[in-house]
Amino acid sequence: MIRVKNLWKKYNSHAVLKGLDLEVSRGETVVILGRSGVGKSVLLRQLIGIDKPDRGTIEIEGKLISSLTGSDLYLATRHMGMLFQASALFDSMNVFDNTAFYLNEHGDPETGKKLPQKEVKARVKKALEMVGLADTQAIMPADLSGGMRKRAAIARLIVYHPRILLYDEPTTGLDPITSMQINELIVQIQNELNATSIVVTHDICSAFHVGNRIALHHDGKIAYITSKEEFPHINDPLVQAFLKNAIPEVNQNS
Ligand SMILES: Nc1ncnc2c1ncn2[C@@H]1O[C@H](COP(=O)(O)OP(=O)(O)O)[C@@H](O)[C@H]1O
Ligand SMILES: [Mg+2]
Repeated sequence: MIRVKNLWKKYNSHAVLKGLDLEVSRGETVVILGRSGVGKSVLLRQLIGIDKPDRGTIEIEGKLISSLTGSDLYLATRHMGMLFQASALFDSMNVFDNTAFYLNEHGDPETGKKLPQKEVKARVKKALEMVGLADTQAIMPADLSGGMRKRAAIARLIVYHPRILLYDEPTTGLDPITSMQINELIVQIQNELNATSIVVTHDICSAFHVGNRIALHHDGKIAYITSKEEFPHINDPLVQAFLKNAIPEVNQNS
């Protein structure tokens, strides 16, 4: 359960989040749509605790993330994973080492204890199989396609079995076929890990594919949040313009 209440965040004199509220239920996938620069990434950074709000609260699985720091914050967020917009793989490490990195660094996500290499190998193998990269363990990131890099970054995320997953623009910059593979992967991960997920995107096609509910982030707030069946029927020029802009893209892609 994620509960965001009255979140405010200002950079210099520019108010980005202006009293944003959001609730996401356990096991649910909420997609947050919004134009570029509206503050979607800012919101995700607050959720995972990288950044602090000026005002308001973020509660995740009963923990008040917005007021924790140091090791308390680390313990409260170690069951969370975020897929950053730039996949951010380590260039000097092959796919295996990239995927194993956090397991080696932080140990067993449940106990924090160091994991035996045999166990690390087994977990990495399973995560890479899940994203369709079973045969790429020795390959360096530079030799992967954009879609494969994205999948490797997803493997690095799920190897940890996070209970909360945050995806920042997972399909941006990918071609339509690769985007669809990533959408399907997000749904598959959802089914297998039963995680609570937030997917931030401006890709309407992706939104309808992966979301249980769809939200529109506008002017520092969640302007709407509703089921994906209801979302296209919202009688607001803002939503309709958003859908219209995106629909030609969806048609081209299908
Ligand atoms: N660390 C920062 N310092 C100053 N301004 C920032 C910072 N992070 C984000 N912003 C500003 O906040 C606004 C929202 O950014 P962002 O969340 O990245 O948008 P998007 O919805 O495209 O993800 C932008 O105007 C951006 O310039
Ligand atoms: Mg962003």
